[in-house]
Amino acid sequence: MIIVRRAKVGDENGMINFVNEQIRKKEWNYTGRNKLKDKNNLKETRKNLLSKKPKTYYFLAFDGKKVIGSVGITPRNNGRLRHRASIGWGVHYNYRGQGIATKLVTTMLVFAKKKRFKRLDAEIAVENIASVKLAKDLGFKIEGHIKKGMLLDDGRYVDTYVVGKLL
Ligand SMILES: CC(C)(COP(=O)(O)OP(=O)(O)OC[C@H]1O[C@@H](n2cnc3c(N)ncnc32)[C@H](O)[C@@H]1OP(=O)(O)O)[C@@H](O)C(=O)NCCC(=O)NCCS
Repeated sequence: MIIVRRAKVGDENGMINFVNEQIRKKEWNYTGRNKLKDKNNLKETRKNLLSKKPKTYYFLAFDGKKVIGSVGITPRNNGRLRHRASIGWGVHYNYRGQGIATKLVTTMLVFAKKKRFKRLDAEIAVENIASVKLAKDLGFKIEGHIKKGMLLDDGRYVDTYVVGKLL
């Protein structure tokens, strides 16, 4: 059974391994990160999970003890942008197409609303069909189109959408 819950201290190894596994398998192509996470990331993640005012709030999906999905929101925090947060999501390559990202992001939308954010945004490669579908299905609207928004590892520049959802 797949469980979705808020990330807590002790999850940091699982979170780092989850991301590194996708990067090694070249299954993390349309995300900002393309470098493996290291010990410093582990420390940062732990600090973030310990913090009362984290840089990023995470929910995770687990199959037993294994982290197999993640969603995070990163508040803008500064002055007139403080009602906003950016959102990112990902699911392990062996677990895709089963509704896990939908469950993670839906859970995060409820949480973000409770935290009184008024707007979430993300940038998604236009050719990332699954992610664009997921965002649209959950009520994100395409608000912009960025030419050459992302440089893929194969050297191609691809366009990205800016998507936003009002809460
Ligand atoms: C994008 C991603 C998170 C989707 O996760 P998932 O758990 O497979 O998503 P879901 O099962 O909830 O599916 C969401 C929708 O996308 C569709 N979908 C999933 N994979 C798809 C694929 N490969 N091609 C087309 N549609 C797909 C699903 O059918 C579903 O639509 P439906 O409800 O009409 O059936 C996952 O593919 C992933 O982690 N990709 C790599 C990292 C990434 O790109 N992150 C996002 C950066 S913006």
